[in-house]
Amino acid sequence: MSKIDLKPRGMMYPAPAVIASAYDKDGKADSCTLAFATMCSHKPPAVMIAINSTAKRKTLKSILERKEFALGFPTIDQVAETDYIGMASGYDVDKIEKVGFTTTKAKKVNAPIINEMKVSIECKVMNIVEVGSHTQITGEIVNIQADEEVIGEKGKVDLKLLNPIVYDDVLYDYYQVGDKIADAFNVGVKFRK
Ligand SMILES: Cc1cc2nc3c(=O)[nH]c(=O)nc-3n(C[C@H](O)[C@H](O)[C@H](O)COP(=O)(O)O)c2cc1C
Repeated sequence: MSKIDLKPRGMMYPAPAVIASAYDKDGKADSCTLAFATMCSHKPPAVMIAINSTAKRKTLKSILERKEFALGFPTIDQVAETDYIGMASGYDVDKIEKVGFTTTKAKKVNAPIINEMKVSIECKVMNIVEVGSHTQITGEIVNIQADEEVIGEKGKVDLKLLNPIVYDDVLYDYYQVGDKIADAFNVGVKFRK
């Protein structure tokens, strides 16, 4: 099987499409869609996001000013809203209002929660580092809010009930999560023998 070399580019599978939100200095809710977002610590629980610092993103400015933000997980039926929030800038338009979303102040941080998100995590900035074109921000997760309808039998958020958006940043396509294929920390046990 021959392999070909491709031009280096940002690449990770699967990527999420989540919505970061923060208050600007006047208390207005900013938001932007992010694919650069992932877990990075269990203790304390933390996520890292990366926002383009060369492109004057309003949400980045607000997160850096406030040092607090929220991340909402849109569902597949909110894909158009998510796409729009990832194209328009808060410098030009009130995106949240435009797509018909509303916000409430988060419980443990001073950041807006988008009410229409079925799961939102509330974060306090722990660390900021410049990585090439992007500002990489680590946020400690200090609270998680979830709609009851996405809580499964185990009392935890159930991926299939949430139905989050899967994003392909290479071909610029949105997907939904497919079927479960195995139990983690279990299916590989057979190789221990
Ligand atoms: C699917 C998708 C993923 C995106 N991921 C990122 C990202 O990870 N980092 C980033 O800086 N911009 C990302 N963007 C672009 C921003 O969301 C976009 O520039 C937004 O308009 C910024 O808005 P603001 O100026 O109101 O903050 C993404 C856009 C889309 C549609």
